[in-house]
Amino acid sequence: MTKKRVAVIGAGPSGLAALRAFSTARKQGHDVPEIVCFEKQPSAGGIWNYTWRTGLDEYGEPVHGSMYRFLWSNGPKEGLEFSDYSFEEHFGRPIPSYPPRAVLLDYILGRMKRDDLQGDMRYNTPVRDVQWDADADNFTVTVEDLANSHVYSERFDYVICASGHFSTPNVPTFPGFDLFPGRILHAHDFRDANEFTGKDILLVGSSYSAEDIASQCYKYGAKSIIFSYRSRPLGFDWPEGFSEHPLLEKVDGNIAYFSNGESRKIDAIILCTGYKHHFPFLPDALRLKTNNRLYPLDLYKGVCWIDNPKLLYLGMQDQYYTFNMFDAQAWFARDVVMGRLELPAAADMTADTHVWRRREEALEDAYQEIDFQTDYVRDLMKYTDYPAFDLDKVAEIFKEWKHDKAEGIMTFRDRSYPSVLTGTMAPPHHTVWMKALDDSLEAFLAPAANPKHKVDAD
Ligand SMILES: Cc1cc2nc3c(=O)[nH]c(=O)nc-3n(C[C@H](O)[C@H](O)[C@H](O)COP(=O)(O)OP(=O)(O)OC[C@H]3O[C@@H](n4cnc5c(N)ncnc54)[C@H](O)[C@@H]3O)c2cc1C
Ligand SMILES: NC(=O)c1ccc[n+]([C@@H]2O[C@H](COP(=O)([O-])OP(=O)(O)OC[C@H]3O[C@@H](n4cnc5c(N)ncnc54)[C@H](OP(=O)(O)O)[C@@H]3O)[C@@H](O)[C@H]2O)c1
Repeated sequence: MTKKRVAVIGAGPSGLAALRAFSTARKQGHDVPEIVCFEKQPSAGGIWNYTWRTGLDEYGEPVHGSMYRFLWSNGPKEGLEFSDYSFEEHFGRPIPSYPPRAVLLDYILGRMKRDDLQGDMRYNTPVRDVQWDADADNFTVTVEDLANSHVYSERFDYVICASGHFSTPNVPTFPGFDLFPGRILHAHDFRDANEFTGKDILLVGSSYSAEDIASQCYKYGAKSIIFSYRSRPLGFDWPEGFSEHPLLEKVDGNIAYFSNGESRKIDAIILCTGYKHHFPFLPDALRLKTNNRLYPLDLYKGVCWIDNPKLLYLGMQDQYYTFNMFDAQAWFARDVVMGRLELPAAADMTADTHVWRRREEALEDAYQEIDFQTDYVRDLMKYTDYPAFDLDKVAEIFKEWKHDKAEGIMTFRDRSYPSVLTGTMAPPHHTVWMKALDDSLEAFLAPAANPKHKVDAD
């Protein structure tokens, strides 16, 4: 009998979780399908793969990356630790709770290398089209080998879509933008805070990107930070030089006017207005359509496309949990593909999603959202052998993190939390975040006494 074939779209944390899930089953002696992973970037790591490029890449492809220089994790690493590969195992010692992006990328790729997940990885190969063939009971996946300008198609029994959803920017416009004399960009194209040193910056949006890009610009010397919110202000106890205003009404020259009549002089505008779920390679019948939320509909257990469960999606939810949730989803997807999990009838799957959606709609604050996503991950894990970890403790860590942010938006990254896998308390970083201007892996991991990496505290 010929082996089943599975196409994985994307080699970010979600796609790599799928590869890890199958590899674990293979090591346990199971007969696993043939897996091909298509990745449009030249290497694995997804959004953690930093690039200086914006707009189009060297092949004319939209740049996937939304990461910027100097980005440090915005949540404690203890909340995202892979339950089968601890930070201590990877780095050989405990490390602080809030690593910069290069350290997290090293961790993600470390598990991949340790596992020898090289397999059939096709880099520089965007998926262009996916078609379901009901008669043949399989998909035709069409891809482009960019380096050789070669478009080709292959047949797969299953498709796992792990192409991320924080890459295609949501870009609103406001009156006066056409004639604004400074730079207007979306967070997706933000790369280096040094560009805004000495400037008055307007950030539109009031979520993680606005909060983090603003904090970073302040750290690297922006003159003032002006937020504009649509629904609610971020509400942190911001340092001097920050202000929060309701929605931008218009820009006239370099003056921004807000809906409550206030106005401010600005030099640059950064639209931190979120991202769109965007799957140009999927036909309508297979395409997930949702905003950024904790429980998108049409996916059973947040994973299986109910209309055709041979298509599986990973990582499509808004995220408190990240790497460990992608793992829990990947193990579930693997067991569906390998026939270890039998799915209910379509109507029952739909009914199940509506139960979760009703609960999601009743959530009132971030603490309830954390409990909701904790229960979601717990529910997934009961179906598979993804190694158990203490989800209640992770939820506590997320709640502590929320509290620590409220106490000090510029100091929360100096806090430490214990690993729920090893029990070890993370050591403090050798330099407080606000003074740690070198975000390289070497500087982060350098011993505290190494004066070369110690930023002067004065
Ligand atoms: C600015 C920013 C900061 C973040 N910071 C944090 C943080 O501090 N902590 C945290 O836990 N999470 C953070 N996140 C969330 C982040 O989305 C997840 O950590 C994680 O990267 C999601 O993994 P993913 O594999 O689902 O998606 P991605 O990381 O986006 O990977 C998707 C992959 O699919 C590939 N791809 C896309 N389309 C195609 C195609 N057509 N064909 C082939 N390949 C394709 C892409 O090139 C990419 O490699 C951040 C997100 C952003 C945008
Ligand atoms: N350091 C880090 O780790 C870091 C840094 C940045 C981002 N991230 C991650 O990136 C992901 C995305 O975060 P995000 O902040 O980009 O997106 P997001 O959480 O989806 O938030 C989008 C924001 O844009 C606002 N918005 C949307 N359309 C608007 C419009 N037309 N006018 C005004 N405001 C509008 C929304 O306002 P409403 O509330 O009114 O809808 C919301 O405040 C998150 O997972 C986050 O954790 C991490």
